[in-house]
Amino acid sequence: MPTPTIEWVDGGVRLIDQTLLPNELKQIDCDDVECVWEAIKSLRVRGAPAIGIAGALGTVLGIWNSKETRFAEFVDELHGVTDYLASSRPTAVNLFWALDRMKMTAAKHKHLEIAEIKQVLLDEALKIIDEDRAMCRAIGEHGLSLIKNNDTILTHCNAGGLATADYGTALAVMFKAHESGKNIRVYADETRPLLQGSRLTTWELMQAGIDVTLICDNMAAQVMKEGKIQCVIVGADRIAANGDAANKIGTYGVAVLAEAHEIPFYVAAPTSTLDFSIDTGAQIPIEQRRAEEITEGFGRQTAPEGVKVYSPAFDVTPARLIDAIITDKGIARPPYEINLKALAENREMPNYAQSS
Ligand code: MRU
Repeated sequence: MPTPTIEWVDGGVRLIDQTLLPNELKQIDCDDVECVWEAIKSLRVRGAPAIGIAGALGTVLGIWNSKETRFAEFVDELHGVTDYLASSRPTAVNLFWALDRMKMTAAKHKHLEIAEIKQVLLDEALKIIDEDRAMCRAIGEHGLSLIKNNDTILTHCNAGGLATADYGTALAVMFKAHESGKNIRVYADETRPLLQGSRLTTWELMQAGIDVTLICDNMAAQVMKEGKIQCVIVGADRIAANGDAANKIGTYGVAVLAEAHEIPFYVAAPTSTLDFSIDTGAQIPIEQRRAEEITEGFGRQTAPEGVKVYSPAFDVTPARLIDAIITDKGIARPPYEINLKALAENREMPNYAQSS
């Protein structure tokens, strides 16, 4: 991405306001933690890894002007800031992963002066950005082996550079395949109600010179039936220990369709998206969004006044529908309860897992 999705500039957080894309590429500057909270909540910055980065940088903003001089009081203030940021969106585990990391970093440096701890926290947030960039590249490298020349890939939502520090997760595989000289095509679901596929994924792929075709979400079955799709690759917001994966609402439906048409379904995510504290996807909190995002999402009313609306922002694809999970540490295959952990801990995976 020529314009960074999110960065630390002159003591503040600068991020692309993704609600304006594709019509306007504009960055906004946040000088306080409330601004970062609002940017996460309203999806100015979005996508699990980018939300995690926003959480880390937002934490720095929140404590930077702290007047506390003793560690106990400073850490109380820090936890107040991280709790506040944690209340912005519930599903992407990367947010909680990043906030925990910031708290742990402070605890590890309790012997330092408060001014020094603030600097260490900023360094940690910048490290999270660098690591995310590297993880996305590694996902692209690993995923490359799953893509054949002339493949057409279907994706849902946006798991590109805009959703990460750079390069993306699901889209990293496509960028890498394209850069490696493979001829690929992509079908992008528009992704109702907030149109991340239509507004963001097509924009990113077109900028990279990748052949992309936009479809409405309800066209995926027909496109698959016509034999146009060789594999599906999506991102994830949280992956449970058993491989169940939460991603943008509609992903589960795409996985069911892929199984019905015998098309491989892959999830691409950094290891920061793995949540080993939960056994299954049933424990993943699903964010509920405002009714107006559906009834007035196109800038005018598209449903009768007062209609009841239900709007979960994510769904959980059961592990049994996922053929492989592409991470920065390699590709995991079922049984995920064994292989994801082995991968995250850099242990050797049992042989049977590689071939299933
Ligand atoms: O509501 P959003 O736009 O934050 O949802 C984003 C997604 O569902 C992405 O697919 C997911 O975060 C993976 S991003 C690499």
